[in-house]
Amino acid sequence: MSRIAVYPGTFDPITIGHADIVRRASTLFDTLIVALISQGSNKKVMFSSDKRKRMIELEIQRMDLSNVVVMIFDGLLVNFAKSNNASVIIRGLRAVSDFDYEFQMSWINSRMIPEIETIFLPASKEAQLVSSSMVKEIAKLGGNIDAFVSPEVRDMLNDFFIKSVADAL
Ligand code: COA
Repeated sequence: MSRIAVYPGTFDPITIGHADIVRRASTLFDTLIVALISQGSNKKVMFSSDKRKRMIELEIQRMDLSNVVVMIFDGLLVNFAKSNNASVIIRGLRAVSDFDYEFQMSWINSRMIPEIETIFLPASKEAQLVSSSMVKEIAKLGGNIDAFVSPEVRDMLNDFFIKSVADAL
């Protein structure tokens, strides 16, 4: 039986930390679905779901991963996983501070659909504390984000802020 896993998130934008989890998770399953939550989530997003999807696709291409696809979802994650025949939800853990939220989310998800297991992958040393909000803030203030995102994502972020400044003039 083909093993399918889902790696969900907002990915606003995808960072080297997310990309690292995608790469490692892709080696563990036949198919990995990167599940991008659309704008309907609680978080205020900077990039549209189509732009976030494009960034993830560029990362997948760059890493040459043939068993990874990106899908946009709305609603409950477990329902999305079930409707795509996924038996596992992947989440990355960066630090102890992630644990409470992640543990609660996995508990709630398993109460809703017990057959779907959550597997945590520890963040790699290089991406231990990176976050999408931090990257956006640095880019907005004109800082160098090369250590946190790929060149393609960096260019898209820089274009976004150059355009915002131009629009404000
Ligand atoms: N590397 C780098 N950054 C990481 C990371 C890693 N390995 N793991 C998490 N992060 C960061 C992200 O950059 C993000 O940073 P930000 O808050 O500064 O933007 C933060 O950690 C968490 O983001 P993410 O992993 O994208 O998850 P999320 O909390 O935005 O999304 C969902 C959570 C989408 C999985 C969850 O809201 C969900 O399942 N929603 C659907 C509704 C549902 O089913 N609800 C019931 C379940 S409780």
